Amino acid sequence: MKKATIRTDRYFITGDVDKRIYGSFIEHLGRAVYEGIYQPGHPQADEKGFRRDTLALVKELNVPVVRYPGGNFVSGYRWEDTVGPADKRPARAELAWNVIETNEFGLNEFADWSKLSGSEIMMAVNLGTRGVDDARNVLEYCNFPGGTYYSDLRKQHGYAEPHNIKLWCLGNEMDGPWQIGHKTAEEYGRLATETAHAMKLLDPSIELVACGSSNGGMKTFGEWEATVLDHAYEDIDYLSLHVYYDNNQNNTPEFLAKNLDMDDFISTVVSICDYVKGKKHSKKQINLSFDEWNVWYHSKEADKLITPWSKAPHQLEDVYNFEDALLVGSMLITLLKHCDRVKIACLAQLVNVIAPIMTSDTGAWRQTIFYPFLHASTLGRGKVLTTLVDAPCYSAGKFDCVPYLDAVITEDEENESLTVFAVNKDLEEDMEVSCDLRQYEGYQVARHIVLTNDDMKAVNTEAAPNTVAPHENGVSKMEDGCLQAVLGKHSWNVIVLKKVK
Ligand code: AHR
Repeated sequence: MKKATIRTDRYFITGDVDKRIYGSFIEHLGRAVYEGIYQPGHPQADEKGFRRDTLALVKELNVPVVRYPGGNFVSGYRWEDTVGPADKRPARAELAWNVIETNEFGLNEFADWSKLSGSEIMMAVNLGTRGVDDARNVLEYCNFPGGTYYSDLRKQHGYAEPHNIKLWCLGNEMDGPWQIGHKTAEEYGRLATETAHAMKLLDPSIELVACGSSNGGMKTFGEWEATVLDHAYEDIDYLSLHVYYDNNQNNTPEFLAKNLDMDDFISTVVSICDYVKGKKHSKKQINLSFDEWNVWYHSKEADKLITPWSKAPHQLEDVYNFEDALLVGSMLITLLKHCDRVKIACLAQLVNVIAPIMTSDTGAWRQTIFYPFLHASTLGRGKVLTTLVDAPCYSAGKFDCVPYLDAVITEDEENESLTVFAVNKDLEEDMEVSCDLRQYEGYQVARHIVLTNDDMKAVNTEAAPNTVAPHENGVSKMEDGCLQAVLGKHSWNVIVLKKVK
């Protein structure tokens, strides 16, 4: 059995966990909205057409913020098509995903749904086909109390109170050639700063996210960030990062190492932000919004067969397996380790489309990746202790030394509890892990949740929804102030320690 040590100190704090790192994403794409969160006539639908079964799972996940309405969709988004009487709303050819968008579900319906789900909205404005004027109009519609054209229009539509949306994205992935209205860094930087300026004149209480690169592999990565920040540094609050990983090579050790790439991506973007800060002699710090992250590859072949211009087709419906859940767990650990700079993160996406929750006409169920997200979102609140891991490592692909163990510790002072999140990436051996916690006198192990499976490719389906599900029989104990745990081979572990009174 391999051995590893986790080292921490209660006075070495990485930062507070901003709860918004447990955000998610609903795009007008595939069956995320239609048949996902909204399906009038379905036996589970409420009077507004919202699916109660989906809502219950979203609430279980405890998602504090949901990004909307895209994604690539936002670059052709006409928000005014989506408000007012539903029977008067135009259907449009949606160019990002080659489908027909009926606009039956729109901005106000999403605001209603968000209230029910207990999440804030992270709204995106269209900087692909549109610009400053459209951004200030939609902001006026959403946030202005009344007495102006767009705020009064909202009232006519039945919404007397403003939606008060505090977080806004300035477009989506504008560096990507696939984007409608794709821009150079100079063009986007200029447009982002002008838009940000106008939006903050209208509502200075909002926070703005500018687009970073679509992923760290873009040719323009680095230069894009520096140029955009050169223009927009003082007008924006966050820079975005996106990443999706795959196991196309069917190489599990290498796949499970990919959160190291995410770690490096974050550190690099932090460096660029701070370089521009230095260059501008600015007092302001730009933080990060990792507003799209996940595993995405299982559905790519099936998506090539979709009939163009259909309505709400089965698009991007990845069926996640057990090893995907392990990588998602490791990615969550990486995000937590960077909580001093990553303040927002959105698991992309939430329902049906590369999602932890799936629905059909007959039910809703939890995919494998639901569980690590659930555990982190519900048990990883408070602050992050700087957590060092001393573990043997392996080499895989471009990664020379991948520790077999990923771990991070969060502390919830109010509830006098600690949570250790840990992934054992070893496919062959269990691991003995120890952590000196003598600074936490009286703390005892309260729970040790484990997610594992003999079959790395095991999946949950509607017919067999619990094939991959956590159990609470993890092996760990406190001995002389030291946590001693055995982490099973290829497992996600959540150890909760509580002060015993
Ligand atoms: O989440 C799916 C798509 O991935 C989003 O629409 C886009 O922003 C990204 O490329």
